[in-house]
Order: sequence, then structure tokens, then C-alpha cells
Amino acid sequence: MAMPGTEKQDPSTISAPRAKASGQREPFGVYVHWPFCLAKCPYCDFNSHVRHGGVDQDRFVAAYLAELDHFAALAPARRVSSIFFGGGTPSLMEARSVAAILDAIARHWSVDADAEVTLEANPTSVEAERFAGYRAAGVNRVSLGVQALDDKSLKALGRMHSADEALAALAIAKRTFDRVSFDLIYAREGQTVDAWRAELRQALGHAADHLSLYQLTIEPDTAFAARHAAGSLRIPGGALARELFLLTQELCGDAGLPAYEISNHARPGSESRHNLLYWRGRDYAGIGPGAHARILRGDGKRALSTLKSPEAWLAQVEARGDGIEVDEALSSGECADEYLLMALRLGEGVDLKRLAAIDGRDLDQSTIASLERRGLLRQDGDRIAATPAGRLVLDRLILELAA
Ligand SMILES: C[S@@+](CC[C@H](N)C(=O)[O-])C[C@H]1O[C@@H](n2cnc3c(N)ncnc32)[C@H](O)[C@@H]1O
Ligand code: SF4
Repeated sequence: MAMPGTEKQDPSTISAPRAKASGQREPFGVYVHWPFCLAKCPYCDFNSHVRHGGVDQDRFVAAYLAELDHFAALAPARRVSSIFFGGGTPSLMEARSVAAILDAIARHWSVDADAEVTLEANPTSVEAERFAGYRAAGVNRVSLGVQALDDKSLKALGRMHSADEALAALAIAKRTFDRVSFDLIYAREGQTVDAWRAELRQALGHAADHLSLYQLTIEPDTAFAARHAAGSLRIPGGALARELFLLTQELCGDAGLPAYEISNHARPGSESRHNLLYWRGRDYAGIGPGAHARILRGDGKRALSTLKSPEAWLAQVEARGDGIEVDEALSSGECADEYLLMALRLGEGVDLKRLAAIDGRDLDQSTIASLERRGLLRQDGDRIAATPAGRLVLDRLILELAA
């Protein structure tokens, strides 16, 4: 079983605190969700769908452009500091589709000259052939789903690529883009500490400036969940999972890529600016099926999300110009809870002054002192942050802090 806090997280589900200022000078992100994959991986519960009959990409892109018009009207005059194409598998998009969306974003908002533009890619040879086109379209960072560095594990994870193919795609990515990250899933079935140490060392040898290392999570309603429930899939838990996590922190720290978030490691300065925007509770638009957005408007922070079904989303956008299913106000208490929850994942931790500004919350000093004594938390002036041991029990730590 996965330890609390070490599991992968879909950042598009994160909400953000209410800010007092207009927010228009703050960084602003645009998330674009492409919900299609070639096959469904047995562990994955992201909003991803297989369409054997093909996808009418031009029709979907026209709908993305329409939904961008809608979000530009909801959040005018922002300064875009990051754009993220996530999925699903955005590397199934034609480069001209990515270019059309980036051009539309630049027409609606002012985009920073050094804006981070990331695209998630699966590391097959076919997808690597599209990298140059993405670069020409304006993508400057790629996040590759390598997942494992041996073919047996890749097969067990239901992946469509071999380890050699993934490393070849990684080499092409490193030649093509300024910044490259890749994902691995660890605490896989049968994985020992020695095996993960060897694999992670190999990964660090190939790493550019960023690595995402996710502990395998059994997500409800996936093929892995059924096998896990039936007892035919056993994954590391308890002391072994803890050891794998702590080893990950140690090896990455030693290699100069410390954890800046529970599962994300980077050379200082190379953190994912887009993901930091979620964890720091900033604003972002979210377009495409099942995307989430947080937008500060005159009356406070609003949480929006679009229809998850690609076809239902497409029909609604074509009928009325947006695929929004939920649009609700967040109370200041909800904003503060979520800021606490998200920022505790970060190495930089929680800004206590900011927390107080959101809903007047003042965390109990004796609880903080007790957590510090137990080695779970550290305080540095106006900031508190979970230690590596604290990140292993993040849910408990948050409960104590919020009590
Ligand atoms: C949006 S997903 C995948 C992007 C891309 N389609 C791919 O598969 O490479 C982002 C990352 O979440 C991680 N992930 C997804 N499901 C997971 C799970 N159940 N446990 C741990 N990590 C998971 C994988 O490492 C994956 O690369
Ligand atoms: S892990 Fe990636 S490729 Fe696999 S189903 Fe999920 S989004 Fe699609």
C-alpha cells in the first residue's frame, strides 16, 4: 500500500487560497488537457481514454480555441508565466494543434518572454519524431513518462515502449528542448531496495534538470485495483515502502536534485514553475475535458472544472462555447485548508503570514513545537515545512496542525 503523501498527484485537482490583491500581476498558468491515449495503463486513473476509431483532432482543437476565448473573458489581462499540456497523452497531438493553441493563448494574454511551456510525452519512437515540431511551436520543456528502466517492469506496467526506446526518446528530448524531466514509478511489485537503488542511480545518470519519482499508488477502479483486491498483485508497503522513499530522498539529494515537492526533484532553479503555481495556490485556467481551474474574480476565488467525457465536453463547447461543469466559490476556510495541504508538500513549506492573510488562521505554536520535537516538522521564521520523515505521514501531520 502506498504511504500517505508519497503518491502521485494530479495537479489539476488542486485549489488555491483567496488573495486580497487583484492577482493580475501574479503569475498565471494555462493548463491544457489532452484526454486520449493509445492504450489504458492498468495503474492509471487520470482522465484518459482510448479511441480506436481515431480522434477528429481539428474539431477538438477548434473547441480548445473556443474554450480559451471563454477563459480569457473570465480572467482578462493576466500575465501568463507557464503553460502545461497534460494528459492523457499530449504527444499524440499534431505539432500544428499545439501551435494553434499556443498562438491563441498569446492572442488572449500577455505571455512572459521566458514563459515555461511544458508538454507531457510518452517515450515511443513515433512520438519522439514530433519533438522538433513541438519545439518550433513554442514548447521549451518536455516531461517524459519513462516509468521504469527495464523491459520486464515496463511490461508489468502495461507500457507500449521498451527501456531502450524510452532512453532513445530521452536523448532526442535532451537535444531538442532547453529543459527535460522524466517520470519513474517505484515501489513496484517485487522491487527490492537494492534494485531501486541501482535503477535510480541509472536514472540520475540520465537526468537533465528534473525528475518526478512517484510511488506506485493503487487507484480505485483500475485494473491494478482489481488485481490488488484479488491478491494477485502485491506491492511494497510499510517498512519497505518507507525505506524506498527515504533512499529516493538521499540519492537525489546527493546527486544535486533534492526534493522540492514530495515526488518532484530538481536542480535548484529548475523546478517546474507550472506545478509550483498549483502548490503555491496561484491562479490558472484549465481547458479541455476534465481540466480544473482556479480564478480570482471580484467576489473571491472560484473553482471551475470541465466535463470529463471528451465527447460530452466537445458537444457542450460546440453548443455554448465552454465545457464547464462546475463553477463554485471557495470559502476563505477552504482556501486556507487547501493552501496548508498543498504547501506542506513543498520543501519551502507553508508561509504562515500568507496562511493568516487567507482566513486569519494562526496555527497552534505548541502543536508546531511538538511536531518539531518528533522530527516531523521544521520551523524557520514565518515558514513551516515537513521533514522527509514528516512527508511520510503527511496526512497525520495535517490533521494535527488543523485540529
Ligand atoms: C498524466 S500521467 C502520464 C503522462 C503520460 N501519458 C505517460 O504515461 O507517460 C503523469 C504521471 O503520473 C504517474 N502515475 C500515473 N498513475 C500512477 C499511479 N497509479 N501510481 C504512481 N504514479 C502514477 C506516471 O509516472 C505518469 O507519468
Ligand atoms: S499513464 Fe499515461 S499513457 Fe498510461 S493511461 Fe495514464 S495517461 Fe495514458
